[in-house]
Amino acid sequence: MNSLILKKKLDTTSNFSVIDIFEKAARKAGKILISDFGKIENFKIHSKEIGDFVTSVDIKVEKILLDTLQQFYPNASYITEESDEIKGEEETIIIDPIDGTSNFIHGIPFVGIVIGRVFKGEITDGVIFNPILDEFYWATKGAGAWCNNKKINVSNIDRIENCLIGNSIPHANRGYQNYLIEIDNIAKKCSGLRSTGAAAIDLALVASGKTDAFWQRNLKIWDISSGVLLVREAGGKVTQPSGDEWTIEKSDILVSNNFIHNQFLEELNSK
Ligand code: IPD
Ligand code: CA
Ligand code: CA
Repeated sequence: MNSLILKKKLDTTSNFSVIDIFEKAARKAGKILISDFGKIENFKIHSKEIGDFVTSVDIKVEKILLDTLQQFYPNASYITEESDEIKGEEETIIIDPIDGTSNFIHGIPFVGIVIGRVFKGEITDGVIFNPILDEFYWATKGAGAWCNNKKINVSNIDRIENCLIGNSIPHANRGYQNYLIEIDNIAKKCSGLRSTGAAAIDLALVASGKTDAFWQRNLKIWDISSGVLLVREAGGKVTQPSGDEWTIEKSDILVSNNFIHNQFLEELNSK
């Protein structure tokens, strides 16, 4: 057993850690995603509303994830993007089969298979797997944040002027009051803005110190649960964009490397 495996906490009901089980499910599902990536003729696309798509690959990936995870956690509750909630015990597994579905459709390699575990309102374990780039991000509460076999940390830049900031310009009906003001406030102060089109990947970029902060509103729990844990375990800070505490039922989020958090809040909310 290598030191990496030792760092993962063993599940009480099996000899595997939660992360081992999530990895097994994500890698199995990842093969399906890879086999259809860039082959738009292979899958069906359905538009839920403007700019919100589901493909037959999302559905297939979600089924593989559920089938695999339910072998290990038959009594858990499941909250997934593409199926009805499965009500079970307090242990809850949260799934986004493809975060970045629009990217997937367009053959852009920023996609993530997201699986998180929530227990008593706390995110305890999370993975974000990008099978195209073969990046397996994972975090367990108290055991740090990792990408493949490497521990990851947030950046240590302490002036917003030197920061690269993640955000997503809201499209279709996702705009909200003041969104252009928020973007203008931050754009004027930082060294650049980035948007991957997959919130989970945006969060993984902050956790791995590639970008320095990220904010977005109106996200879903499956977009952000694993990424929040990654950022926290990598030494970053998570709040709402107002500065109030972030809890799992909140859909607006601001994460940073911690050093610039207060400065970021001030700039974001300045009139
Ligand atoms: C979307 C992505 C995107 C975010 C959207 C999400 P999906 O998830 O995370 O970055 O801006 O709000 O809905 O639909 O690709 O799973
Ligand atoms: Ca998503
Ligand atoms: Ca999705």
